Amino acid sequence: MARRKTHEKRLSLRSRPRRNRGSEAIRALARETELQPSDLILPLFVMDGKNRQAAITSMPGQFRMTRDRIVATARRAHGLGIPAVALFPVIKGALKDRFARESLNDSGLLQTTVRALKDEVPGLAVITDVAMDPYSSDGHDGLVENGRVLNDESVGILAAMAVAQARAGADFVAPSDMMDGRVGAIRAALDAEGFAEVGILSYAVKYASSLYGPFREALDSAPRSGDKKTYQMDPANKREAVREALLDVREGADIVMVKPALAYLDVIAEVRARVNVPVAAYQVSGEYAMIKAAAEKGWIDGRKAMAETLLSIRRAGADMILTYFALEMAETLG
Ligand code: PBG
Repeated sequence: MARRKTHEKRLSLRSRPRRNRGSEAIRALARETELQPSDLILPLFVMDGKNRQAAITSMPGQFRMTRDRIVATARRAHGLGIPAVALFPVIKGALKDRFARESLNDSGLLQTTVRALKDEVPGLAVITDVAMDPYSSDGHDGLVENGRVLNDESVGILAAMAVAQARAGADFVAPSDMMDGRVGAIRAALDAEGFAEVGILSYAVKYASSLYGPFREALDSAPRSGDKKTYQMDPANKREAVREALLDVREGADIVMVKPALAYLDVIAEVRARVNVPVAAYQVSGEYAMIKAAAEKGWIDGRKAMAETLLSIRRAGADMILTYFALEMAETLG
C-alpha cells in the first residue's frame, strides 16, 4: 500500500540527472575528468649538505632537502608514476649577488643536483626554474638598478642561466621571471649551444599573487624592497593572460603555465581554449598551506580538499599540475 502511494506521487520526468549518480559504478562511467599521477609534477627545494632535511614551517610535510635526499624522494615520485620534478635551490646568503652569478656555476647546487638526478633516476624528467630570485641579493627575478627591475639586461642573464641548466642535463627549463622576450632569447641561446632538444615550460601567465609567501620563506627569496607588480601580472586581467600565452608560444614555448591555479581557473580555461600547446597550472605554496592549515585545525578533510582542488584544476583545462601534493595525491590514487 505504502509503496503504491509513493509511486503515485512520482513526477513524470523524462530527464533525471540523478540516475547517472546512482552508484559508484555508474558515477565512474559518467565521470568527465580524470586525475592521474602522470598529470603531476613535484616541486622540490634543494639545499647544500649531506643527508639532512629542514622542515618548511608554512608548508607542513614539505622540506628543504640535501641532494641525496632529493634523489631518494625523486626515486619515490618516479615509482609512483609522477613523470617530472621541478627543482628550486636554496642559495646561501653569501653566494647571492645583484647579478645572480652563482646561477651560472656548473658545480653549483642546482646544476650538481640535476646531474645527480639524471644519473640516478634517468627516466624522470627534470625541470629547472629560470629566474634570478633564489640567487639575487635583491630578491627579484631580474636585475635591479636604482629600484627598477631592468628587462633586457635580465633577459641576457636568464638565457645564460638556462644554458647552464641545460648543460647540467635539464630536460625542460622553466622561465618564471616574466621578463618580456625571455622565451625567444632562451630558445635562441639553447639552440646556439646545441640544446635544441631541451624544452621550455614557460610561466607565461604568472600573477603578482599573495599566495607565494611560503615559497619565499622556503628559499629566503622575498624581494628586499618593493614588490613584483612591474613584471608579474595584475590579478584583475584575463585578456592579458591570452596575450602573454600567445606571445610565449610564438617565441617558442613548448608548454605554457598559469600560476597560481585555484583562484585562476577561468584563466586556465581561457588559455586552454586559445593555444595548441599543453597547458600547465601551478598549485602554489599558499594554496597548499591553506589546505594544510585548515586540515590541521580539523576544519576540512585535507585529503578530500587536495583531491577536489586538483581535479578542479584539471577540469578547468590544465594538462598537468605542479603541486606540493604530488606524492600524497599519487599515493592516494595508487
Ligand atoms: C620565483 C618563483 C616563485 C614561485 C615559483 N618561482 C615566487 C615568486 O615569484 O615570488 C612561487 C611558487 C609557489 O609559491 O609555490 N621566480
